[in-house]
Amino acid sequence: MRRIGPYEVSDIGLGSWAVRDPKAFVDTLVKAFEMGINLVDTAEMYKTEPLIKEAMERYGSKEIFVTTKLYPWSIRYDAEKAMKRQIERLGKVPELVLVHWPEDIATEVRELEKLVDKGLVEMIGVSNVTKEQLEVALQVTKKHEIVAVQNKYSPTFRVTEELFPIMEKRGIALQAHTPLDKGRALELPSVKEVANRRNVPPASVVIAWLLSRSPIVIPIPKTENVKHLEELLLGTKLNLSEEELELIG
Ligand SMILES: NC(=O)c1ccc[n+]([C@@H]2O[C@H](COP(=O)([O-])OP(=O)(O)OC[C@H]3O[C@@H](n4cnc5c(N)ncnc54)[C@H](OP(=O)(O)O)[C@@H]3O)[C@@H](O)[C@H]2O)c1
Repeated sequence: MRRIGPYEVSDIGLGSWAVRDPKAFVDTLVKAFEMGINLVDTAEMYKTEPLIKEAMERYGSKEIFVTTKLYPWSIRYDAEKAMKRQIERLGKVPELVLVHWPEDIATEVRELEKLVDKGLVEMIGVSNVTKEQLEVALQVTKKHEIVAVQNKYSPTFRVTEELFPIMEKRGIALQAHTPLDKGRALELPSVKEVANRRNVPPASVVIAWLLSRSPIVIPIPKTENVKHLEELLLGTKLNLSEEELELIG
């Protein structure tokens, strides 16, 4: 298990960007909840909140940690209205809201703080940020802590590691988006070699590698395929050796 603020969440969550087949996605999400995943990612932009709502209803519990993200302009224009729309579409108050890609981060995180005060969300964070932007966000938030950053992080995309020291010091979770780099990470020769040696799928190796990088890392891959889901979950149980980790780099 990993942590976001006071919450214990599963080692991986599921993303919901670019769902091709809504029915297959909901089926996979229900299966994921049954298999212990309790974290799901959506956004104003994705329009997948009703699918997550349906999956929670079929699973029979809303005790799922939901992250949503608002457009920066929605936050600046009328954050309350945008958030109420999210709540209505999800059928619950989400645990976490992020500014999807900050434009004026100081203003945007202060607006997110007001949403917590109004009971429209429990916690706040930021997405697609540089180290400098994160530092600004940490400086200007006065009442509510930044509990998570959602940035791209994958064996093929590592710039987010620059943020690790400050995040680890403050216990800020990294929701690692695009962890498979949309399939590119599965094609890395080092990933393929470790997968062959262990006789596991490359996706399991990528998840195991990501989880080994720091206790703050929580990969949020997207799948609408139960076989792929099982491969991703296998990665949470796979302990790579020092030599295997070094091979991937
Ligand atoms: N904050 C942001 O700006 C931002 C940006 C991008 C993404 N995100 C979030 O992060 C989530 C994940 O990113 P992503 O969806 O762009 O990319 P990703 O998770 O790196 O890759 C998703 C692709 O990998 C495939 N896949 C999943 N499991 C697999 C497996 N075991 N073996 C082979 N292929 C597999 C999926 O196909 P199947 O569905 O067929 O399995 C899908 O085509 C998004 O859904 C979204 O929630 C956030």
